[in-house]
Formats: sequence, C-alpha cells, structure tokens
Amino acid sequence: MNVFDTHCHLDDEKFNEDREEAYQRMLEAQVTRCVCVGSDLPSSRRCIDFADTHAGVYAAAGVHPHEAKDAPADYLETLAGMLAGKRVVALGEIGLDYYYDLSPRDVQHRVMAQQVDLAVQLDVPVIFHIRDAHGDMADFFRSRKRLPAGIIHCFSGSPEIAREYVRMGFYISFAGPLTFKKAPHLQAAAREVPLDRLLVETDSPYLSPEPKRGRRNEPAHTVYTLAKLAELRELPIEEMAQITWNNACALYRIDP
Ligand code: NI
Repeated sequence: MNVFDTHCHLDDEKFNEDREEAYQRMLEAQVTRCVCVGSDLPSSRRCIDFADTHAGVYAAAGVHPHEAKDAPADYLETLAGMLAGKRVVALGEIGLDYYYDLSPRDVQHRVMAQQVDLAVQLDVPVIFHIRDAHGDMADFFRSRKRLPAGIIHCFSGSPEIAREYVRMGFYISFAGPLTFKKAPHLQAAAREVPLDRLLVETDSPYLSPEPKRGRRNEPAHTVYTLAKLAELRELPIEEMAQITWNNACALYRIDP
C-alpha cells in the first residue's frame, strides 16, 4: 500500500525537535509521498528546501489568508520564481478564513485573487483553504472566466457545497476531522464526492485524527483518515489508498 498525504506542514516549528524522525515514521506507515505546503514566503522556501532533500516529498508555495496582510509588494514575483522549482507541484495554500480573520477581508480577497490569476497564467494547480467563507469563495469561483485546477483542502462544508466545488472541477481533500464522532455533515459529504475527486491529508501538525486526537499530528497519521474514508465508501483500505494516490498524482501532475 502507498498512501499520499496531500497536505502537511513539516516545515512547522513543532517539528523542529524531530523532523527527520517524523519523515521516517511517515515512510514506515506507508505514507510514501506528501506535499509540504507553505503559508507565507519564508515557510514556502523551507518546504521547497525540505522537498529538495527528501525522497517522496513535494512542495507548494503560496500566501495563506492569515499572512495576506504581511505579503511584501513583490510577493507574486517571488512566488513565480518558487513555482518554477522542480519539486514544487502547486500554489498554496491560499484562500479565505473568516473564522480567525487575521487579515482584513478585503486584503484576503485581493491576495487570494492575485494568486489565482498567477496560477491560471502559469497553469499550476492551487490548494485552497476556506474556513467559514464557502459562500464568498463559491461566488468568487462563479465570477471567474477561467479557474485553475485545484484542491479544496481540509474540507469543512456541507455535502451541497462539496457537490458544487466538484462541478467546478475541484478535488475535495479530507483531514482528521472526518474521523471525529460529531462530524455527520463531513461524513455525508465524503460518502458522495465522486471517487475520482477524493483526497486525504493530515494538515499536520494540526487536526490529529482519532485515535490520536489532541496530540500533535504528523504525516504518518494519514492512514487513520484514509481508513475512515474507506469505511464510509465500503471499500478495502488498499483500494482507497490507490484511488486517492492516483487522484493526488493526477492533480499534482507527478508520475504515479
Ligand atoms: Ni494547511
């Protein structure tokens, strides 16, 4: 079995004490590929450096809505340079976060839209972070003539909005919360997203799945969310691993 963690933050300082060990545990858990996702320019750089030196690790570069207010004037140029990297497979993570509102909403919108334009121009897939902002995000998507390929990461919406994102061509990625007892809407969404649009991720160090809930998350834990997804779809875990692996490789445009 080969498992693909489509979204983690191995560059995070919470891995400063044991980053190499976490990488080894990931491989031992049969999670043989992951994408290390940036949230601002320095973290994107760290993700790229880690991907360049670790087999099976890829990187994404982008500015998260939390960090949008601090994006330097020339950030798009820097990002374009990073996206040319061999191991850089996506622009992200970018989006809207109305739960924390750490950047003013107009700034979140501007920085997100500029990066979507860049992704369309460069033809690279996008990783979207959307928290308490599905209405505005869907409106934004509907307003665009051209949308990039992309992932709705750590999906947190209703089955209806999942369906709409799928119609727009996006993949839906499920993280640890899928395993929580009180997540009936997420589990309902996971039951009906078409198999060829499903992905799994950890978003580690955040959002540990059951039975690791409450502790630091890491890429090795992808298997718990994968197992839950397989159970919901009534498929063997090996088959769900293969399906989500193929989807991830297709979206990130890497050889399966
Ligand atoms: Ni993330």
